[in-house]
Amino acid sequence: MPDVAEAIGRLQGRRIAVMGDFILERTQCGRPEQVSREAPVLVLRHESESSMAGGAGRLACLLAGLGAEVLPLGAVGADAAGDQLLELVAQISPHCEGLLKVRSRETAVQTRFLAGDIGVRKQQVLRIDRGDAHPLDDASAARLLAEAQRCAGDVAGWVFVEGGYGLLSRALIEGVRGVAQGFCFADAGERARDFAGISHLALNSREAARQLGLPRLTEAAAAARQLRTELGLQGLLLTRGSAGMLAVCGDQLCELEAIGGEQVVDPSGAGDAVSLGATVGLASGWSWADTARLANLAASVAIMQQGPARCGAEELRAAAREAGW
Ligand SMILES: Nc1ncnc2c1ncn2[C@@H]1O[C@H](COP(=O)(O)OP(=O)(O)OP(=O)(O)O)[C@@H](O)[C@H]1O
Ligand SMILES: [Mg+2]
Repeated sequence: MPDVAEAIGRLQGRRIAVMGDFILERTQCGRPEQVSREAPVLVLRHESESSMAGGAGRLACLLAGLGAEVLPLGAVGADAAGDQLLELVAQISPHCEGLLKVRSRETAVQTRFLAGDIGVRKQQVLRIDRGDAHPLDDASAARLLAEAQRCAGDVAGWVFVEGGYGLLSRALIEGVRGVAQGFCFADAGERARDFAGISHLALNSREAARQLGLPRLTEAAAAARQLRTELGLQGLLLTRGSAGMLAVCGDQLCELEAIGGEQVVDPSGAGDAVSLGATVGLASGWSWADTARLANLAASVAIMQQGPARCGAEELRAAAREAGW
């Protein structure tokens, strides 16, 4: 197994473009005080609130946390949430010219309400999403593509994050593909087919089943092979929750068991960690099988933490040591 510390070392200062749906994630915490007399709902006493970048913004933050020079490419609305999201991303990247403020768009905001008494782990009781899924207007899409083209010569690798808000049009993906010199990896969500022709892609079992028009994925290996071929990819990663993941590259298929499944604290955020590990492996020129092992390792770090993935260099190095690499 190649050296994880060396891969992180090689990432330092390398430019990685992250394009996709940037989301503002807000969390409101409170302790339950009473049942409302207006309706059968809990009334919470407000305790704290916090905000962080989600979607493509989360991956941008994770990559910057490992030392990459991140180039964020996306859009926010001309609203207060957009200003806040821009500020959060500007904290991790000095190159935010490609994170456009667009009047015709509402910033994507996901607000989670967590409830729990003092000393008890708070649990999510409600989530409210704002911002509709629609493509960028033509002028903004042209600006975004121009920005991508302007920077392409300095970009070592491209990462697409499909978050369900419609920013990544086929034309944008194609435009980037035309100028990309390094790898192009997509966390494809429900839109794997729109990324046909890029180099590498990850999706989960549910998403793969839908792409194939199946109610459930029963033959995962065959599905992974079929999708890799149909989409013309070099490598495909099919993630399967607690069942681990499958990596396909050419005729080779490699099955990886999940690490640390007995110690799961919170599996949400595992997908972001998979994208992080895959990006680090690809940026280091690792084989797809070794890149998948790193993605699997990063996922194991994420599932042992509460809330969004924190997957820093120290956590990854420690996990690699523990896995005997
Ligand atoms: N319950 C679990 N136990 C062990 N490993 C897990 C578990 N859930 C996820 N993982 C690890 O994380 C990887 C990605 O998880 P999953 O397939 O659920 O992706 P996802 O649905 O894209 O995640 P997300 O909800 O974060 O978008 C898996 O391939 C596995 O390595
Ligand atoms: Mg996912």
